[in-house]
Amino acid sequence: MIRLLPFVILPALLGCGAPALPAQQPPPPPIRIIPQPASVELLDGHFALDPETVVCFPADAADWELPARYWMSLVLESTGWTPLALPFRDRDRSAPRLNAIYLIPDTTVGPAEGYVLEVRPGWVLVRARTAAGAFYGVQTLRQLFPPGLNGRNSAANTRLAAPACRIADAPRFGYRGMHLDVARHFFPVSFIKRYIDLLAQHKLNTFHWHLTDDQGWRVEIKAYPKLQTVAACRDKTLIGHYNDQPWQFDNKPYCGFYTREEIRDVVEYARQRFVTVIPEIEMPGHSRAALAAYPELGCTGGPYQTLPVWGIADDVFCAGNEQTFVFLEKVLEEVCALFPGPYVHVGGDECPKKRWKSCPKCQARLRGQGLADEHALQSWFIGRIENTLARHGKKLIGWDEILEGGLAPNATVMSWRGTAGGIAAARSGHDAIMTPGSHCYFDHYQGDPETEPLAISGFTSLEKVYGYEPVPAELTPDEARHVLGAQANLWTEYIATPDHAEYMAYPRACALAEVLWTTPERKDWPDFAHRLKTHFLRLDAQGVRYAQTFYNVDPRFYGGRLYLSAADSALDIRYTTDGSEPAPTSALYRGPVALQQNTTLKTRAFDGARPLGATRTVRYLLHKASGKPYTLSGKPVQYTGGEQYGLTNGVTGSIRSWNNWVGLVNQDIDPAIDFGENTPVQSVTVRYADAKSSWIWPPRRVELSVSDDGKNYRTVATRDIDTETRQNNAVETVRFDGLNLHTRFLRLTARTYGVIPAGMDGEGNGAWLFLDEVVVE
Ligand code: ACM
Ligand code: ZN
Repeated sequence: MIRLLPFVILPALLGCGAPALPAQQPPPPPIRIIPQPASVELLDGHFALDPETVVCFPADAADWELPARYWMSLVLESTGWTPLALPFRDRDRSAPRLNAIYLIPDTTVGPAEGYVLEVRPGWVLVRARTAAGAFYGVQTLRQLFPPGLNGRNSAANTRLAAPACRIADAPRFGYRGMHLDVARHFFPVSFIKRYIDLLAQHKLNTFHWHLTDDQGWRVEIKAYPKLQTVAACRDKTLIGHYNDQPWQFDNKPYCGFYTREEIRDVVEYARQRFVTVIPEIEMPGHSRAALAAYPELGCTGGPYQTLPVWGIADDVFCAGNEQTFVFLEKVLEEVCALFPGPYVHVGGDECPKKRWKSCPKCQARLRGQGLADEHALQSWFIGRIENTLARHGKKLIGWDEILEGGLAPNATVMSWRGTAGGIAAARSGHDAIMTPGSHCYFDHYQGDPETEPLAISGFTSLEKVYGYEPVPAELTPDEARHVLGAQANLWTEYIATPDHAEYMAYPRACALAEVLWTTPERKDWPDFAHRLKTHFLRLDAQGVRYAQTFYNVDPRFYGGRLYLSAADSALDIRYTTDGSEPAPTSALYRGPVALQQNTTLKTRAFDGARPLGATRTVRYLLHKASGKPYTLSGKPVQYTGGEQYGLTNGVTGSIRSWNNWVGLVNQDIDPAIDFGENTPVQSVTVRYADAKSSWIWPPRRVELSVSDDGKNYRTVATRDIDTETRQNNAVETVRFDGLNLHTRFLRLTARTYGVIPAGMDGEGNGAWLFLDEVVVE
């Protein structure tokens, strides 16, 4: 333990005689830190960084050299200076020096990863209880200097000053994670390191490395060489979206895996940045690549291929075959030896039980273990693996499906299908990590699908990520303690290159960092948006190719008026309604715009004459129900149509993403529209999506009913729907004509298909029903 007393007087010693900044010194930048610290106090003066600035760290405290070395390499890379790092010992303490950055262990600094940073003319102190805390203090210090400090040679020949200040800070959550899928597409070690370094800069502390899946096995396992030759390769890859039929392939072999040396190198690189690496080895599902190499581990014995398409495969590890466990135990033994962290993630998601149902070995296991069904068999499987991991001193994490059939005794649940899994885990005394698809899937679109690169689907904007609250409101304070934190997932079916991965991750990871680090009282979206503009300069200096969707205009239409907004309120919003591209001379948005007729809006943000982001194009249909309120019996949570009244917002849905659709699972959608007065109605049109590979089915029937009081309805028309698919992935229209009605209330009821039949994708699950605009004329 280091004693600290001498340093209490250090500021007093150093404060006098600190060199004044030269007259030509530009003022230091204002303080704009991401994630927002717990407290920031601005003081007088600046600290000037120069080639003589030294960084002092305790010689006899484990890992304290790491933040010092990190600082040195940052300065070296951006300025070309080679600053000195000086270890100090107890006895050296009587001779503190000027122009120094001191990293000082201090047991009085609260939480383990917290720090107190004091910047004064002449010296900087970073006090922390742990080296990790000192590292985060250094990351904050970095953001006090001009953005050039972050790039290669980008601060050469510049003067670097940081404002004097006192910052006391600590994270809200202990688990602050980002995931990367390297199975669907493989990413080189150089990129993995860059990804980890960017996490660390944002004070994220966990990298979840999704190493195996149906489309590739990416970690070297000495005991099973065919994992490197067969499972690490697929002979072709799908072109375009999974829903585009017929499938087309590139017919090029695609291979890649990390050697043990590379893994160790990455793990050490992460350790130096206080990032824990969690490897994920998928089981029992998402295992087709392993089965391609070792077909005897599947229920049918194969042959199997490493998959060239995405989705969910029926062939999974056989739960009845002892060889499966011999294989997995040896694999996990090697994995546990490579990754020193406390956790191993074993997947557990999306494991169809189809093969197990007809496999004699699986059925014998089920009977032998006295298990009720195949869900219980999966639970038994995961429980057995948990014991294996425990023998290696590791804890098991799985996706929320590991709750089905009973949770393994000490498992941690990663809640991805919404928050229910996390809530159930916390209530049963298990730890949970929140990664709900609604807010934490960075493979979703972050802007208008018309102008964004192809993505899997979904819509998770920067603002939506920022607004995420990881602790579900349903939990009591005691239960909430089991929510360790959250993480964003980056699945790479549609992300083939490092640039694209970075584009999908940033700036959303900046928002995630603030969700996880900053207390809710200190979070503020407009302020974050303001700080982000400075942060973009830091990312620019590092060549990070982040998305520009931050600058896109967000149009909303209700009550017959159009509202336009941009995250950056300093920008001009310009728009056209004649189909032309917005230009610096186009109409400037000054307030809500009344729409009287069908309108094609094109809008874009401008910084003076410079266009930013992408042009947003929206076609508004004006009709008798547009902008009118309605009620629904079932409230959509995930697919809301984008706005409160998504079914009457004048905007129809596109098949490329689901953000303009209202969707419910196995439930009718029945908007009851209030026109506000008795209204003549001749026709009603509604559209539904038919995308069965995405579990989205047509309604069985659509009904129209009317009411004068909003309570008693009378049916006026019905239409049975042919639910057979004519073409995959279609938008279909139902139109009622010649209605001749006069009514105040109109209800359209689309009846859910119900449960997906056997033999179809998602069989046995509730079908989704997706409707878009209810057009009344
Ligand atoms: C998952 O997204 N299948 C965990
Ligand atoms: Zn089997």
